[in-house]
Amino acid sequence: MELAEVVRRRRMVRRYSPEPVDPAAVDRMLDAARRAPSAGFAQGWGFLVLDTPRDVARFWEAATPPERAARPDAWLRGMRTAPVVVVPFSSAEAYLDRYAEADKGWTDRDPGLWPVPYWHVDAGMAALLVLLTAVDEGLGACFFGVPAASVGPLREAFGVPDAFAPVGAVTIGHPVAEERRAGSAARRHRRPTEEVVHRGHWSTSST
Ligand SMILES: Cc1cc2nc3c(=O)[nH]c(=O)nc-3n(C[C@H](O)[C@H](O)[C@H](O)COP(=O)(O)O)c2cc1C
Repeated sequence: MELAEVVRRRRMVRRYSPEPVDPAAVDRMLDAARRAPSAGFAQGWGFLVLDTPRDVARFWEAATPPERAARPDAWLRGMRTAPVVVVPFSSAEAYLDRYAEADKGWTDRDPGLWPVPYWHVDAGMAALLVLLTAVDEGLGACFFGVPAASVGPLREAFGVPDAFAPVGAVTIGHPVAEERRAGSAARRHRRPTEEVVHRGHWSTSST
């Protein structure tokens, strides 16, 4: 599929069919993820792949606050149909270590030197490549946030070191055609180019 077509087609998919996902397709998504750009080529990320019913169930157990698990809403019921979950993690430590090397020289490891946390930026770029490759494979995917209270249980359930934080999680599977747009995109419009692009000087849209 052409890149422009992949980008145009990508939508967050929040309900999946029971059809299994070809493990080779997941491998291609992960290969795309590790090709993402990263500051200083630090690659301070890790991707937890959960592709068995048991592991996916353990993910939802860890990632769902008890009050929500007790009364699963439509979102949770839909997302739990995904046969595969990939959790991209980022490590600040890896970036502080990398930038303390001679060619960067940030030996004081001062967090104030960072205009934004590059470790999260990079893991986000990798996650986007997972989403785009899913479309290219004829699959659907959804990136979503992991509740702060679930980060500890998630690390514990899967033996993830404390240095790694989940930037979100990605469900993957064969999409079930939904009648309407779901999530925030159902309630909000895509902002037009002239509103978000500032050419030569930051402009404030009159509309
Ligand atoms: C950082 C981030 C966090 C998100 N968190 C959630 C989430 O918790 N639940 C969800 O259903 N979608 C989540 N989304 C998906 C957005 O709602 C979605 O990208 C947006 O509504 C635009 O729709 P589209 O991606 O289908 O074009 C998240 C997206 C990003 C980038």
